[in-house]
Amino acid sequence: MMFQHKKQKLQLNIIALALLMMLTSLLVVISQNANAKNTEISTARQQALYNMVRQDCGSCHGMTLKGGLGSPLNPADLKGKSVDFITLTIMNGRPNTAMPPWNEIVTKQEAKWIAQQLKKGAFK
Ligand code: HEC
Repeated sequence: MMFQHKKQKLQLNIIALALLMMLTSLLVVISQNANAKNTEISTARQQALYNMVRQDCGSCHGMTLKGGLGSPLNPADLKGKSVDFITLTIMNGRPNTAMPPWNEIVTKQEAKWIAQQLKKGAFK
C-alpha cells in the first residue's frame, strides 16, 4: 500500500515535469517567433521608407541622389563607406552640418536597410 502510494507520487512528478518542459519549449518557440518578426521590415514599411528617401532625403541630396545641399548618395559616391558608417550617419546625422539625425523616425535596423539600399542604388 505504502509502496503503491509512492509510485503514484513519482508518476505525478514525472507528468508535472513533462508539462513544465513542454511549456518551456513552447515559450522558447513563441519568443523566437517574436524575435523573427522584429528582424524583418514589412513590405509596406519598406515602401514608406523608399518614398521617404526619395522625397525627404531627396530634398537635400537631390531627387536622383546626385547631390544638392547634401552630398551625392549614389553607389559610386558611397563606395569607400561601410553600411555601418552610413547607418550611423543616418541615425545620428552630422553635427554642425545640415544633415539631421533620423533616429526618431527610423529604427537602427531600418537605417541599416536604407544604407544597404543606397549602396545597391535601389532609389532610382
Ligand atoms: C536638411 C538637409 C538634409 C536632409 C533632409 C538629409 N540630409 Fe543627408 N546630408 C546632408 C548634408 C549637408 C550632408 C553632408 C554632411 C557633411 O558635410 O559631412 C549629408 C550627409 C549624408 C550622408 C553621408 C554621405 C557620405 O558620403 O559620407 C548620408 C549617408 C546621408 N546624408 C543620408 C541621408 C538620408 C538617408 C537622408 C534621409 C533619411 C538624409 N540624408 C537627409 C543633408 C541632409
